[in-house]
Amino acid sequence: MPAISATAPGKIILFGEHAVVYGQPAIAAPINQVKARAIISARPDLPKGTILLQAPNIGLEQALVDMPGDHPLVLTIHRVLQATGVKQPPALSVRITSTIPIAAGMGSGAAVSVAITRALSKFLGHPLQDKQISQLAFEVEKLYHGTPSGIDNSVITYERPIFFTRHGSENVEMEFFQVGRPFTIVIGDSGILSPTSTSVGDVRKAWLKDQETYEMLFNQTGEIVRQARKAIENGDNAALGPLMEKNQELLRKIGVSCDKLEQLIHAAHQAGALGAKLSGGGRGGNMIALTDDDFAPKIANALIAAGATNTMITKIIGKS
Ligand code: PMV
Repeated sequence: MPAISATAPGKIILFGEHAVVYGQPAIAAPINQVKARAIISARPDLPKGTILLQAPNIGLEQALVDMPGDHPLVLTIHRVLQATGVKQPPALSVRITSTIPIAAGMGSGAAVSVAITRALSKFLGHPLQDKQISQLAFEVEKLYHGTPSGIDNSVITYERPIFFTRHGSENVEMEFFQVGRPFTIVIGDSGILSPTSTSVGDVRKAWLKDQETYEMLFNQTGEIVRQARKAIENGDNAALGPLMEKNQELLRKIGVSCDKLEQLIHAAHQAGALGAKLSGGGRGGNMIALTDDDFAPKIANALIAAGATNTMITKIIGKS
């Protein structure tokens, strides 16, 4: 049997993180420069039924049965077997590699789940559809991360910019929209590992204490996201910078920025960014800066000088 491989991209949230957990829309885009890859190979040399997991990036080489049952890779594989109805898979190996930075708000966990699900379901002769793949990755994220909105698994599965809204616990609305004119973003990694579950949990505590204020902040965020979608569709990139600034101001009030992110945002402004904000869970992880192409390398350098551990220049385009 030939090996089957699948990839899934990284992602960034452009507008609306956190408020999206509370029913407001958010906009996310795939980042195709970084990818997770899963390769499934038949392993007739191994005992019957063996599933061998190999993730050289994290030094993992272990049989599935010897791994903790709540490990996200184990959860993903069990769910794929369940969803495909395959009870006795042949001996196989699942090899995972990824260039997506871990715990930096670029969706590395969801991308690994999506890549495994795509490749393994195909290998088993029951290729799952995008909707099922996204749902499966969401279930794994939920077990692992608490109360995710579902935006990560969606943008990573469909590999297109999305306008995403969660309505209640079961219902999501996903709209793919046109990017009127591609625009350039510089991503800066603060180098601070910040689990999204912690910042999402802290926001929930704060919301429980003062629902009125937080609902107002979330509503204002939703309004900015709607305006940003219009601007992106119309190719009105000049309008996006000020909208990023407004979104960042609200994220500060929500309590998810931090000194390092603020320093990077300031450095991006000084170097000529049209707008900048944190991206993802906050308290660390990434920030993004909107820029004209010419300024992108200068902004990337300024971010490194201000303490970013990594930068990436990327163009947001529609689905080609
Ligand atoms: O940290 P990230 O990029 O996985 O993004 C989290 C986005 C939040 O809105 C904070 C949480 C969520 O599940 O939508």
